[in-house]
Parts: sequence; C-alpha cells; structure tokens
Amino acid sequence: MDLHEQARQILRQNDRGGYTLPTHGLYPYQWNWDSAFAAWGFATFDLPRAWDEIDTLLASQWDDGMVPHIIFHDPDPGYFPGPDVWSAGGDPATSGISQPPVAATLVRLIYEMNPDASRDRLAAVYPKLVEWHRWWHEVRCVHGPAAIVHPWESGRDNCPDWDIGMANVDGSKVGDYTRRDTGHVDPSMRPKKSEYDRYLAMVQFGKSVGWDQKRIVSEGPFLMADPGITFILLRAHHDLAVLGHALDQDTDEIEGWETTLRAALPMIWNDDLQGYDAKDLRTGKFARFLGSGAFLAYLANAARPELDTQLMRVWNAVPYGIPSADPEAPIFDARRYWRGPTWPVVNSLLAIGFRDMGRADLEVRLRRETAELIMKNGFSEYFDPTDATPCGGANFTWTAAIWLTWAGQDYEQAKGAA
Ligand code: DGY
Repeated sequence: MDLHEQARQILRQNDRGGYTLPTHGLYPYQWNWDSAFAAWGFATFDLPRAWDEIDTLLASQWDDGMVPHIIFHDPDPGYFPGPDVWSAGGDPATSGISQPPVAATLVRLIYEMNPDASRDRLAAVYPKLVEWHRWWHEVRCVHGPAAIVHPWESGRDNCPDWDIGMANVDGSKVGDYTRRDTGHVDPSMRPKKSEYDRYLAMVQFGKSVGWDQKRIVSEGPFLMADPGITFILLRAHHDLAVLGHALDQDTDEIEGWETTLRAALPMIWNDDLQGYDAKDLRTGKFARFLGSGAFLAYLANAARPELDTQLMRVWNAVPYGIPSADPEAPIFDARRYWRGPTWPVVNSLLAIGFRDMGRADLEVRLRRETAELIMKNGFSEYFDPTDATPCGGANFTWTAAIWLTWAGQDYEQAKGAA
C-alpha cells in the first residue's frame, strides 16, 4: 500500500473519536504533544477532525491553565501509571504535569492551510491556548527558562539532561509496582527501573501536595531548566501572537512573555559545552550533555555559530537523522528511548526551524534521512540512528502525521512525476 495511504490509515486506526492514541497498546490514552501532531496530520486530509483533536485536548485544561500531559479517557489496565496512581482529578481523569507546548505552533500551521475554513475553530481555541501559555509563564518560567518538575513533562523522558536532577530524587520508598511498558516494547529500548522508581517518587510527591503546581515548583524533588521546552515555548509564544493578530486580538501580553523568555536564554548557555544545556535549578549545576533539546534552538531562532558546529559534529556522526543524545558521549545508547535514537517528530520541529532560518540545505538533508527511515522500516516511534532499526511502538501516530505533513513530501512528488 502507498505510504501516504498507510499513514492516513494509522491515524484513522488510532482515532478513538475526537482524540487519537499515540499507538495501540503502549500508550492507550490521549497524550498532549502527540495529540497536537495528530491534529497536524489529520489536517492534510480531514480539517474538521484536526480541530476536533485540539478541542478535545484543551477541554481537559485545568482551572489554573495547565493542559495536562495525559487524558485518561477510557481506563486501560495495559498502561502504568494510570489515573488511580496519579489521583490528579478531572473528568476524564488526567495526569498532574504538562508536556511540550507545541500546540500553538501546530495550530498556526493548521490554520494557515485554510484560514477561511478555520477562523471560527481558531477563535474557539485561542483563549485556551493563551491561558496555557500564561500558566507556563507564571508557574514554570519563574526562574527564567522553562522548568520541568518531572522528566515526563519534557517529553524526552530519560534523556541524559535529567540525570543530574534524578540523582537527587529518592526512589527507594515507592513500594512495589508492575510496569506495563516493558510488556509492549523490548526493555532495552525503554527507561531503566532505577529511573521508573524516581518517576514514581515524583508522582507521589505531586499527589501528596494535592497537585498544587506552585508548591511542586518550590518544594518538589526535581526542578530542571529544559532547553527543549524553553525553545518550543519561545517559538509557540511567537506563533500564538501571530494567531492573535489574525483574530484582531491585543497580543502585547504574549509578546511580553516572548521577550522575557528570550532574555533568559543566557542562563542555559554553557560555555564549557559550547551549547545550550539543561540546568538543575535546585543546585544551579549544568547537566553537561548535548542533545536534541539544545538543537531545538533552531526552532526558536536562537541558534549560535558554536551550536552550528556542534550540530554538524553530532549529526555527521550518524547516517540517519539527528540523534537525541551526543553519539560521542559515553552515555550514548543508540536504541534506548531518548538516550541516542533519532525521533522523526523532533526532526520535523528542527526542520521547521531550519526552513525558517533559510537553511534549506539542512532541511532537505533531514527530510531525506527521516523519509529513508520510514520507507525502510515503517512508522515507528523512534529509530536507531546508526543502522535505522525501528524502535519503540509501531504504527505510531506522530510518525504517520509527520510523514503526511513533511517527511513524505519528496516521495509524493516522485510518485506524481512517475
Ligand atoms: C510513558 O509512559 O513512557 C510516557 O512517556 C509518560 O508520559
């Protein structure tokens, strides 16, 4: 079957009516940033369904403005930790943390595909996106850059950026539990038990303070500045302001958030590393790891010549895509989730940045390498960047979505010409 049709079929098969699973089995609920990518994918063939996805995501917004990272629509024992472990409330129940705020950037792309047909749908979601961005500014950006209170909030769960903060989290008292992820996917491609113990300790802390987000930031066991979310949010503030202009709204407040966040970037620049770096906000120490979080600077027009040098070193070290961690670092693990693999979805964000910065050469190369992975080995969650081995979940929604919106572009043209 044609790859475009296969990608559309994956979106339809993972569609649960108004929301889309990232993949069957491993992730049986609605995940925040996955959902925004699903919407982008749907927009290529079913625009109303794309807007429905954004509506469903934002319908679970908390009163404080946070949009949670998981919405537990239909209880599924195949996932751990489920709604009972989180105990964060909501109807449907949700988790108690957020996830990378890519929504405004992708909503802008969806809106621009057909502004006339989208204007009313945009007007309905815009105030909710503003509330969510205000929450990021007021609750998570209190130290300057965007901070995360749990590695899952970064979306890049077990990347080496968090090792320094995780070392200070006590995971020894979480009690017995059974993981479900390793029943769906080869355990060598997933985070380790020592990491899961700590992930749960952080969930238990959030629950102990009734998911009071300000208390979690000030007293929680883990607080790190995340370059990845900082750049995604910076870009999303900009895109949200553009959307506000399209709706004739006053966007001064949003532009103020953007200016303040950009002014905080020197806090996460590590001269020793010659790159942006995660920082433990409890100790002030840098993580000292270069990875895809730092390279998302391209998405926010925040690249620097030193970062160009690092990007090319890291990228040229592997044949397929931009790896999630530095292949020359001892921690590099080519198939273990965010400690080495290349993620088509992150490549698509980097490509938006390259294109907007006029670096067509980089965008074309990244598109070609990402397309090759999918053409060789299907719509996997992530891939080994050294030999293209498909990793994680199969028939993955966001990989299908970025094939339709970006990676499959040349393939479609070549087919048209044939
Ligand atoms: C998981 O369960 O692996 C998710 O990434 C948490 O959000």
